[in-house]
Amino acid sequence: MEKRSTWGSKIGFILASAGSAIGLGAMWKFPYVMADNGGAAFLVLFMVFTLFIGLPLLLAEFVIGRHGKTYSTEVFGKITGNKYYNLIGHLGNIGVFFLLSFYSVIGGWILLYMIRTVCVIFTGQHTKNYEALFGSLISNPIYAILGAALFILLTAYIVSKGIQEGIEKASKIMMPLLFIAFMVIILRSLTLPNAMDGVAFFLKPDFSSMNAEGVLFALGQSFFSLSVGFGGMLTYASYLDNKTDIVQSGFSVVGLNILVTILAGLAIFPATASLGIDNAQGPGLLFIVLPFVFDQLPMGSIFYLIFLSLFFFATITSSISLIEINVSNYIKNNERKRKKGVYLVSLLLFILCVPSALSNGVLNEVKFGAGTFFDNMDYLVSNIMLPIGAFCFAIFTGYKLDKQIAKEELNDYKYRGLFKIWAFLLKYIIPIVILAVFASLILK
Ligand code: PHE
Repeated sequence: MEKRSTWGSKIGFILASAGSAIGLGAMWKFPYVMADNGGAAFLVLFMVFTLFIGLPLLLAEFVIGRHGKTYSTEVFGKITGNKYYNLIGHLGNIGVFFLLSFYSVIGGWILLYMIRTVCVIFTGQHTKNYEALFGSLISNPIYAILGAALFILLTAYIVSKGIQEGIEKASKIMMPLLFIAFMVIILRSLTLPNAMDGVAFFLKPDFSSMNAEGVLFALGQSFFSLSVGFGGMLTYASYLDNKTDIVQSGFSVVGLNILVTILAGLAIFPATASLGIDNAQGPGLLFIVLPFVFDQLPMGSIFYLIFLSLFFFATITSSISLIEINVSNYIKNNERKRKKGVYLVSLLLFILCVPSALSNGVLNEVKFGAGTFFDNMDYLVSNIMLPIGAFCFAIFTGYKLDKQIAKEELNDYKYRGLFKIWAFLLKYIIPIVILAVFASLILK
């Protein structure tokens, strides 16, 4: 007998979806990509894309998931009667593997830094050279692999407990903690001398320093950070009852995601400005620059540990949503197979994450395409697979999904006019924008 799970409460669903959205995208990628691509101009563009492209796609995933109430490699066929559309689900199911292979490596770095910071608090032994520390941690094969393995194990443990007892419970504990930790860090950051210079950098747009590449990044970022394109939000919505208002939930998730993006900027940029450090430091911003910044402060290690924990909560609540996509496709609505599914998926994932984990060390010289294996995974997912997934979702929902289904799911009698705008964006604007960005990449 099949037995499908459901969420225990509406807030549980919203927090889990917001947890999926808020992750490395908002906390790690956004600050350094923004610093490299026109500062606040990038923020403005990202918000426009999030509202007019990300949000409609998020609602599309919610509509399909809740209506179909099944896993992502079956739902498209179930709704339309044509099983070829299930390819959209398969694309996401594979994409997630690639995504998690580098996601868990970074999750591993966070855990390693947390362990190290706890040691610093107890022994008082600081380093002066954070660049060397970061380099030696991520290039050490044992540390990098163990860190990723630990991160995958923690993720697997939560997901193995199921929807209510695992994912919902973890999100309900971690998401409020994330916000509390943010408040502590932002207060600290904003009260540093010259903090306002950092706020100005963050909030004053300079459109002259924006280029085509920046537009592509902002678009990719809007998919990545809202978790749309691979069916993760679809999977979460498939566990939803018929009463919950998905429009309201969608707006809440987008609102929380934008809020965290801004909070991350307010936590980081005032601190770097105060010490006169250049923000354009690339991926190392959080691991090289921030520990140095916190070191200059009284009780800095404790603040850094708080910062790392919030970074960790954000990351693991996203990785659980990613693994859940694979797990739900494996167990096919039969909850009794969950534990086996989780450990099987985790094992495969661990194997795939090894080359990513070694990419900054022994495999650093093995370069092809976009760079190391790790760089290629990131590039493939963020710039190719997610936009293709998003494109397919837009076309499917805009042209294939029965209008009546969408209207009912979106509460059309309550939100008059919303359906029309949504359908218009999905049918015309979103596919065209994605194609235009692809074309500009190819013609570059
Ligand atoms: N939104 C997550 C982040 O910003 C990443 C993610 C993408 C999660 C796609 C699920 C699906 O880190």
